[in-house]
Amino acid sequence: MKIAMFDVHRFDQKVFTPIAESFGVHFDYFETRLTMETVKLTKGYRVLCCFVNDNLDENVLAELAGGSVELIALRCAGFNNVDVECANRLGIKVVRVPKYSPYSVAEHAVALILCLLRKIHKSYNRVRDHNFSLEGLVGREIHGKTVGVVGTGKIGSTFVKIMNGFGCKILAFDLFKDPTLVEKYECSYVGLDELLNKADIVSLHLPLTSVTKHILNEKTMSNLKGGVTLINTGRGGLIDTCALLRKLESGTIGAAGLDVYEDESRFFFQDLSESIISDDCLVRLLSFPNVIMTSHQAFLTHEALSNIANTTIENIKDFEVGRPLKNQI
Ligand code: NAI
Repeated sequence: MKIAMFDVHRFDQKVFTPIAESFGVHFDYFETRLTMETVKLTKGYRVLCCFVNDNLDENVLAELAGGSVELIALRCAGFNNVDVECANRLGIKVVRVPKYSPYSVAEHAVALILCLLRKIHKSYNRVRDHNFSLEGLVGREIHGKTVGVVGTGKIGSTFVKIMNGFGCKILAFDLFKDPTLVEKYECSYVGLDELLNKADIVSLHLPLTSVTKHILNEKTMSNLKGGVTLINTGRGGLIDTCALLRKLESGTIGAAGLDVYEDESRFFFQDLSESIISDDCLVRLLSFPNVIMTSHQAFLTHEALSNIANTTIENIKDFEVGRPLKNQI
């Protein structure tokens, strides 16, 4: 069976190739993303393996349906880049990796918090320049702070447990309450407005849907406690970027750690160090001394990559031999 993998990096190939060989599966690797322009590369393939910034909208899916593609195996958890309803209508099955390592993302969120609160990004550059001054590096402790966790699914609940270990009070917002978090991890479920109003640190762990898009906007962010540290490892579209810029400018948001960005598909995963960035919001965000951005890196651990490769290949094998697709969306 021929499988085409899109948006491939060396680290993907390194992890996928030996596992694929052990399962008797072969991937053809394409560095390019799947878009309307590259969809012709899918000719002759029954299975595509795609990632977070591949475009699987109605137009691309219509092209795929007219060809040989029967299965899209996402090698990620989020599926906001896929028009699932359209895929189902066209008879193309979509599977994903619902859980690979919630620790990878939850720990990255903690890394962003620690970096921002202790100004590690500043001291790293300073010391490398032989500047050993401590001026301007006074930080804040996590211990004793109120942390607002928006979304307490697999990643959010892991994050709650870590923050409980730091000695934080946890306020959570989700459609469903996780009783273990309430009983064992000093977590109280409250409304979003109350969470935003009381939390010193807010971390987003929601999927991006039509309901959660811009859940942090001008109006909801007017409830934020002054000087809050905002962390987003969920999806860029959860935050209205223009409103975020205004809240950073006014000081309402004291610091932001962003692993995702609303329009990231134009920039992330590419070396653009010799290009001009044609996105004023992104350039503006990168200019703030109290903003750290990483390029959708939170999932990127050896442990997570290995789990992603194993589950993706198992999903494909299930399809190949006609077993029920346990991870179908
Ligand atoms: P999950 O499905 O286990 O948890 C999501 C939670 O959000 C659930 O508890 C659900 O009830 C809640 N939720 C959904 N819609 C809601 C709404 N309208 N209001 C309130 N709560 C709502 O998902 P998981 O594994 O925890 O991942 C969360 C998100 O993290 C993913 O959807 C993905 O977008 C993002 N992610 C980011 C990665 C990165 O590298 N930055 C890697 C993996 C996931």
